Amino acid sequence: MFDEKKGAKQMNATHLKPLLGLKARKINRTASPGMKSSFLAMFLALALHPATIVSADEPNSLERVPDQLLYQPTAVPDRIVLCWSADPAITQAVNWRTDSSVISSVGQVARAGEGPGFVDHVQTIAATTTPLETDLGLAHYHAVEFEGLLPETKYAYRVGDGTNWTEWAHFQTASTDAKPFTFIYLGDAQNNIKSLWSRVVREAYRDASRAAFILHAGDLVDGANRDGQWGEWFYASGFIHRSTACVATPGNHEYGNGALSRHWRPTFSFPLNGPEGLKETVYYFDYQGTRIISLNSSEKREAQTTWLKQVLSENRQPWVIVTLHHPIYSAAKERDNLELRNLWQPVFDYFGVDLVLQGHDHAYARSSLMTHTNVADGLTKRNASGTVYVVSVSGPKMYEAKKQTIMRKTGQHLQLYQIITIDGNDLRYEARTATGKRHDAFILRKQPGQSNQLIELLP
Ligand SMILES: [Fe+2]
Ligand SMILES: [Fe+2]
Repeated sequence: MFDEKKGAKQMNATHLKPLLGLKARKINRTASPGMKSSFLAMFLALALHPATIVSADEPNSLERVPDQLLYQPTAVPDRIVLCWSADPAITQAVNWRTDSSVISSVGQVARAGEGPGFVDHVQTIAATTTPLETDLGLAHYHAVEFEGLLPETKYAYRVGDGTNWTEWAHFQTASTDAKPFTFIYLGDAQNNIKSLWSRVVREAYRDASRAAFILHAGDLVDGANRDGQWGEWFYASGFIHRSTACVATPGNHEYGNGALSRHWRPTFSFPLNGPEGLKETVYYFDYQGTRIISLNSSEKREAQTTWLKQVLSENRQPWVIVTLHHPIYSAAKERDNLELRNLWQPVFDYFGVDLVLQGHDHAYARSSLMTHTNVADGLTKRNASGTVYVVSVSGPKMYEAKKQTIMRKTGQHLQLYQIITIDGNDLRYEARTATGKRHDAFILRKQPGQSNQLIELLP
């Protein structure tokens, strides 16, 4: 029988002491008196300025297990993520990864039951398989699309090869009506994804566990083709994306050597309704009265403008939210995207885009209702009611925020998550810090026949 106290002592004796002792001995052997005082000074500096411990690259200790071992695929599915490539009311896509021994996979789906009997009523759908050679070796990525589902219905699903399966997990289809819903919006995760982003995505999930989806505004990872970083991203979001759909737009860090990450398309299933060459990075879908549009601010921007105008002119949803990575109004010092602002803001103005969710600047900035003429270099007269622009960051890489009168709320050295609820004529927005403290809050209210009203909820 396991004796807890004795067990703890055994752990100390057999694991902790040798590890700690080894490190201590290494320092003692090599540290000169001068170095010891340096260590002391460094310790005091870190204690007095805790923010300085956050660096983009944590040093690897000698004992660190390499990514080659940590993030290898096996025949058991991992990196499971729900996405939509078509209508969220009647379809659900699932993507996952295995090793290359798995050459054919399936997804099984059934209406979720109160007890386990639902497993006798499953539908089995063949998956598509894509080989992907990464810096850690060959993997197989699989995708299945469940179609013909009933709206507003809870389903159970699993994926696998007939021998190795995932657990059964749930998803809920959307309504075909403009019913209230909540989603989570996150800025760049990017650095120290496992060690310091995990707590943010999990805190967001605890606060809004019934969120319809999580929207990631780019720079999910730092190294576009670093398989280990994608491994960390899935470690951090764990089971969350097995039951909460992922919506993501690519950032500049999803580009390596001028090309989109090799991981992007095999890892996710986003709608294929974007312009040629930009599919699954530029796309739109409608969710319960809201049109969500992803623009790719990292390449072929001009080519997206005609598509954007078309998608906005055909829109019949009351609310329109755009996500793109590079901000129309920058949050950080010495950064500006004038060309992007001149290109797309007049289009947002003309078609009355309500809210734009962005990343890239590793600080927080949320505007008032902005039109292109609000900026000093504005050139075009527009008659729109204005758009609210947000830049946010969820990972630990921090830039200094710049002071701007056009911003209603800014922030720096904060990891944040946002919870957004759309309910009829009201869009309720809240930004919270990593510990759940309210940082910013407003209501954007639609007034039929008039401009949107922006109601500030914090002083
Ligand atoms: Fe970026
Ligand atoms: Fe970034």
